[in-house]
Amino acid sequence: MNAHMREILDLVVRWVHVIAGIMWIGNSLLFNWLDRNLEKVEGKGKLHEGEIWLLHSGAFYQVEKKLLAPGEMPKVLHWFKWQNFTTWASGITLLIVVYYMGGASLMPDPGVARVHPHALVGLGVSSLIVGWIVYDLLWQSLGKTKPMVATVLSIAGLFALGYGLTHVMSGRAAFLHVGVVMGTCMTGNVWMTIVPSQHELVNATTEGREQDKTLSIKAKQRSIHNNYMTFPLLFIMVSNHFPAITGAKLGWAALFVVMTTGALVRHFMNVRFVYASWFPVTCGVVIAGLLGTYVLTARKEDPNAAGGPKIAFSEARSIVEARCTQCHSEHPTDDMFKVAPNGVMLDTPERMKIMAQRMRERACNLKTMPLANKTNMTDPEREILGRWVAQGANTD
Ligand code: HEC
Repeated sequence: MNAHMREILDLVVRWVHVIAGIMWIGNSLLFNWLDRNLEKVEGKGKLHEGEIWLLHSGAFYQVEKKLLAPGEMPKVLHWFKWQNFTTWASGITLLIVVYYMGGASLMPDPGVARVHPHALVGLGVSSLIVGWIVYDLLWQSLGKTKPMVATVLSIAGLFALGYGLTHVMSGRAAFLHVGVVMGTCMTGNVWMTIVPSQHELVNATTEGREQDKTLSIKAKQRSIHNNYMTFPLLFIMVSNHFPAITGAKLGWAALFVVMTTGALVRHFMNVRFVYASWFPVTCGVVIAGLLGTYVLTARKEDPNAAGGPKIAFSEARSIVEARCTQCHSEHPTDDMFKVAPNGVMLDTPERMKIMAQRMRERACNLKTMPLANKTNMTDPEREILGRWVAQGANTD
């Protein structure tokens, strides 16, 4: 498949992924919210669990949560499972299209480790499979009797995965794989635990017998896991737009901080109906999380960046021509990128001047450009280019 077809495929799959993701997570948030806002109505019988009135578009909605008497199954019953499946399946497709195809060019980072892109693809795929198996076995065993220990081990395992991956592949690929491992566990939870428990509920009701309680307890446990994973997961999915975080030396630590902040915010949203001071506490957690992320990813600006001998424009230009324009020009010569990535072109003095600050950020501060250092840019070259920008990016 050529690069152009791949980009169109990326567009279509990403579109589906975002729509399905909104439907899945949106449903999940709505049902969680409903559960916490239901009110018991007197005289509605033993099977009644709560009721709520809602206003949406031009009418009132009355929703009741209840168990059904034996044999009382409604003709039409709506399940909520395909939104999750579509999100996961399109997510895996996107992972393949964006990260594994096209020579896996976004996977390696020679500044982190020298590993062949194919080995990184193998590692990525196995982390998904092993991640789910370890998580599921842990909760099938220890999770039944000692859920606290299993929780600590699960979080430690996830952080260990993040730490490990950021030390062998590019930050953005590592972040994304942690997210896909979480998404895979969430999907496994839906299809292997929650949906089977719902089948059992439907069967028990139809057959007029008691529901197997162990199944519903297990399903509730996994559903709580999914609830806490949503916000961290969503952060990871947008993290690829932020090279200052994914490309930072301590990116893995920032990943932990943001994930913890996201899970805590979700927690306070969960308990806000019983815990009066949830709002200031949430604000405090968010501020601490932001500060932590800022500090962990901050770089010291070199006060002498503009000092030293004046860099001639011709020198800066020859570096950019040697290291960047293979990809960043109107007609790229790179074997993978046939269109300037992100529309960034550096092939004229005007374009170099416009992009000067971003060039410095990506190539000199973060060193996340050239991509996978494909064009072998050296550190002295990064310093010279950075100094040219700091001195005002003159193009005369
Ligand atoms: C092998 C191809 C390749 C080479 C060579 C390359 N880049 Fe990039 N560049 C990319 C890709 C792919 C993206 C989009 C993904 C991303 O932002 O990480 C990108 C995005 C960018 C962006 C825009 C994103 C942003 O953060 O604003 C800048 C600026 C940039 N590159 C600068 C450079 C500079 C400077 C060089 C040379 C020192 C360079 N690139 C060399 C592939 C390349």
